[in-house]
Amino acid sequence: MSTSSTAHIDPKGVEIAETILLPGDPLRAKFIAETYLDDVRQFNEVRNMLGFTGTYRGAPVSVMGTGMGIPSISLYTYELIHFFGVKNLIRVGSCGALQEGMELYDVVLAQGASTDSAYVQQFGVRGTFAPLSSFRLLEAAARAADALGQRTHVGNVLSSDVFYNADAAALDPWRRLGILAVEMESAGLFANAAAAGVDALGIFTVSDHLLTHAQTTPLERQTAFNGMVEIALELVR
Ligand code: HPA
Repeated sequence: MSTSSTAHIDPKGVEIAETILLPGDPLRAKFIAETYLDDVRQFNEVRNMLGFTGTYRGAPVSVMGTGMGIPSISLYTYELIHFFGVKNLIRVGSCGALQEGMELYDVVLAQGASTDSAYVQQFGVRGTFAPLSSFRLLEAAARAADALGQRTHVGNVLSSDVFYNADAAALDPWRRLGILAVEMESAGLFANAAAAGVDALGIFTVSDHLLTHAQTTPLERQTAFNGMVEIALELVR
């Protein structure tokens, strides 16, 4: 596949692997590459959206930041899919839990991503498209989480355009529909993947609880983050 540059990615001859892990924060991409991968080469630094390719247990894998929100993850994943041939896109991030019985550091696997974003309207359906994750990746991640003894919830998340909502009750209808947690990217990722016929998944750790208002500390978040990355890395083959 192409290694020439696009509007937002300039790999300067470094290959991008078919499987990529996608944290929001580019420094987390660097951390994952340095902590878990061998033979690491950097493939992007445009806008400091750092991307790296290496190997995990001998298998090629890339990792790149996406920034926050559907517009940001959508443009990067569009380029990764259409210009660089990426086939398995695994978002690793944090989420705010919406349901009782969920705890800080629980893992959420997004089976689907509902959204208040208009992004999906571009595909022109006369109805409501349901952005889903890849069942193949979802099933493998659920097995990996189980094997690692990780408390896990599988279901629908909300990819919201709004972090600070003017309406304090805005999340209530979503909660009543059983939405597990809120984050800000997966619907764009899943819709891009569906439109291109490739596989995507979202794996999250609960960083805050919107019912109990419990929050994690930065140190605890790092530890939980590692657990989630280890699940994602089990999907690299
Ligand atoms: N809202 C949106 N995204 C998030 C949240 C939240 O409360 N927590 C972690 N990611």
